[in-house]
Amino acid sequence: MCGIIGCISRENCYEKLLSSLARLEYRGYDSAGVCLLSDSGTLRVRKKKGYVSNLAGKPIPGGAGIGHTRWATHGKPSDENAHPHLCGKFALVHNGIIENYAALKEELLVQGDVFLSETDSEVIVHLLSHAYRGDFLGALREVCARLCGSYALAVLCADYPGQIAAARRGSPLVAGAAKGALYVCSDVPALCGEAEFLCPVEDGEFVLLSDAVRVFDGQGRQIERSFTRVKSEQRAASVAEGTFMQAEIAQVPRALRDTLEGLEGTDFAPCARALRGAKRIWCAACGTAYHAALSFADVLAEKGVCDVFCTTSSEFRYKTPLIGAEDVFVAVSQSGETADTLEAARLAKSRGAFLIGITNVADSSLSRLVHFNIAMRAGPEIAVAATKSYNAQLLCLFYLAAQLVFFKKGSFPLWKGELRLLPERAEECFGTFGQMSALAAKLISAKGMFFLGRNADFPTALEGALKVREIACLFAEGYPAGELKHGSLALVEEGFPVFALSTREALFAKTENALAEVRARGAYTILLSQSEQALSQSCAHCKVLLPKICAPLYPVLSVLPLQYFACRLSLLRGMDPDKPRNLAKSVTVE
Ligand code: F6R
Repeated sequence: MCGIIGCISRENCYEKLLSSLARLEYRGYDSAGVCLLSDSGTLRVRKKKGYVSNLAGKPIPGGAGIGHTRWATHGKPSDENAHPHLCGKFALVHNGIIENYAALKEELLVQGDVFLSETDSEVIVHLLSHAYRGDFLGALREVCARLCGSYALAVLCADYPGQIAAARRGSPLVAGAAKGALYVCSDVPALCGEAEFLCPVEDGEFVLLSDAVRVFDGQGRQIERSFTRVKSEQRAASVAEGTFMQAEIAQVPRALRDTLEGLEGTDFAPCARALRGAKRIWCAACGTAYHAALSFADVLAEKGVCDVFCTTSSEFRYKTPLIGAEDVFVAVSQSGETADTLEAARLAKSRGAFLIGITNVADSSLSRLVHFNIAMRAGPEIAVAATKSYNAQLLCLFYLAAQLVFFKKGSFPLWKGELRLLPERAEECFGTFGQMSALAAKLISAKGMFFLGRNADFPTALEGALKVREIACLFAEGYPAGELKHGSLALVEEGFPVFALSTREALFAKTENALAEVRARGAYTILLSQSEQALSQSCAHCKVLLPKICAPLYPVLSVLPLQYFACRLSLLRGMDPDKPRNLAKSVTVE
């Protein structure tokens, strides 16, 4: 998704902007640009379709600058549509979507304005030019009041050298300070390499960077805001070689250790009353986080403590759910900035539900919105595709499920004691990677594949399929193992790969039946199970032995070979698993 940066620095402002943009790259983008404002009030722009590295060249002078990585929504990726956009004395970068831009543009065209791009964002800079009567921040406030939709904005004004004004509504924004430099940025991880101190910016607030960071409300009143020192775990990661995704899969055991340590140090007392009295539990998330939420619903359903409803955030928002003050709403989001999940959480909050958030990014919008936040502590995740954050999300959700069972029934489920075995067992899972690598090489030319799983294995099947789709750009689908013959079996032909996950003893035979059915139709079959017996009795062509753990916890482990498989397949197919086509790390628009 688009990322914005604003920087004030007497020294190397251009270089600082470029290195911040490089830190925003992981969010996914298709063009980039910067604009610097010199002390004499000249705005100079460089913007290009493609990579941030395309902006390299003779440094642009100026002590204040703004930058942008664009993920196209309105208008194709092109030099013209790249930000910053300029009009009169103003230059602007924007993350978000302006929903009423067409009506505003119409109004401006009537007044004779000429637009150089197809973007919704360019409208804002034109409005600024019209509204400006010498008061920089005042003009920004006036324009923001006319915008519908979401935005994080950073703006330069030729009359105000050495200053940047910024605003936020519905899209993430954080301010930062370092020795000799001040920042605003879309993203905490991207800012952490540059800034030493951070200060959150809330929806509806405005920021002025000059000799200091000043935060204002919508009426122009200054708000006292304190800075917190950047924690070491907030600093963005780097890899010496290989891809971030490979490194992040290798970090799963450490992430699980850190997550568990954090959970054991977390005081759940503030949510005891809500959990004990919860009539229903709702869980909403998107993509990979949604698959983790499905496993949470499974583990709770088994304990039968109360009704659990799990849905994607985008559906929850528009389904008029019967959620109320006796309910607990759990929002799961690695970034804590996913627009649909934030809106779903706001809706649940407006109905009086108690909100629990599970996030990996400290000080994210979600962590500040909820009544009780559980920090995942998986460490920065830079590859667009989620890996270690998924394993950590599952651990957090299972831990939360154990707390809920405790508050409802007075004792913890038996499997809680085995959570501490997960990091070591995850390491043991690495033993399957040789086999998964060979499989990726064998299946390099496959046209698509299925992933099957029953009950608790089904969310893992969905996640395996999602990984293959997004980073290897191959058609892949996850199905409940009993569902294929109701339609999708028609796609199975000679050599079509079908993976099956089978970790529930009571269902070994059922899953084996599904494998036998696809094998009889020519499929190339792969079975993953912890049971030597299930594997030895299986008709599967390829058998992958998983380490042993008690049954409900398998989702944390059985996904690891699939994550690795997808990564190898992506690399072997000549793709970059860190930057999948069309995708963004942080989906800050609906
Ligand atoms: C897939 C992936 C996405 C995210 C989804 C939600 O690998 O990463 O499906 O899981 O966009 O993102 P968060 O967890 O940040 O809300």
